[in-house]
Amino acid sequence: MFEEIELINQRPEPFKFYTASDLWTDEHTSAQMLSFHLNEAIDVSSRKGEFINRSVEWIVSRFNIDRDSAIVDFGCGPGLYTTRLARQGANMTGIDFSGRSIEYAKEIAAREQLNINYVKQNYLEFITEDRFNLTMMIMCDFCALSPIQRKEVLSKFHRILKPGGSVLLDVYSLAAFEKREETAAYEARFQLYRYLCTAAEIRLIQLRQNTPYMHGRLHSRHPTSRPVLPRQPLLRLF
Ligand SMILES: C[S@@+](CC[C@H](N)C(=O)[O-])C[C@H]1O[C@@H](n2cnc3c(N)ncnc32)[C@H](O)[C@@H]1O
Repeated sequence: MFEEIELINQRPEPFKFYTASDLWTDEHTSAQMLSFHLNEAIDVSSRKGEFINRSVEWIVSRFNIDRDSAIVDFGCGPGLYTTRLARQGANMTGIDFSGRSIEYAKEIAAREQLNINYVKQNYLEFITEDRFNLTMMIMCDFCALSPIQRKEVLSKFHRILKPGGSVLLDVYSLAAFEKREETAAYEARFQLYRYLCTAAEIRLIQLRQNTPYMHGRLHSRHPTSRPVLPRQPLLRLF
């Protein structure tokens, strides 16, 4: 187990793994992400509601959005921008591989009879004959892509834009990057190991972390998980 911990602490090459779909399409995580998107008071998955309203106002005026405008939103999530822009009359396309978010966005569009074409797909694989006045990718998604993927996305934008069309990306500035500090945090949380650990391994972790040992069954704090039961009698172990 400690070898595994050492392994996960090794630094991979930058962009060696593309794990976006693990984060956004997993059954459990995507539910949590959707609730973050829809919480207008925080900017975790999306920006705060008031900021989005101001951003959309700015987009409409900066890119002269009207009923003739066709806009595609890469990584549209639950449609916080597509919905607002469609309400302003724009012809919207939203692409996202999170089924949960797309379903939510579709429901809103159907309820309000908005002109939005939602596509549940990896945007790196998105192909279309349609042409757009504006392509957008909001909440720094562009930064999560490898240099090769960024090149692919920019070529795609170039292909699907009408002559004179625009690209809208928000990205982290170098100043923001300089301010970041790299950290790692660890916590003794039994539920992480709930199906993996023997009692001996749990005891070892506790000894190394100098945390108190609980006798008897170790129950996970995760509401849906089963208790962690030692695979061998405690007496033999200590
Ligand atoms: C940080 S969220 C931003 C959502 C939205 N743009 C907003 O600001 O409310 C990123 C979104 O991009 C989607 N996404 C990330 N990578 C993707 C990919 N390769 N293909 C399709 N969707 C992707 C995620 O499912 C998620 O909904």
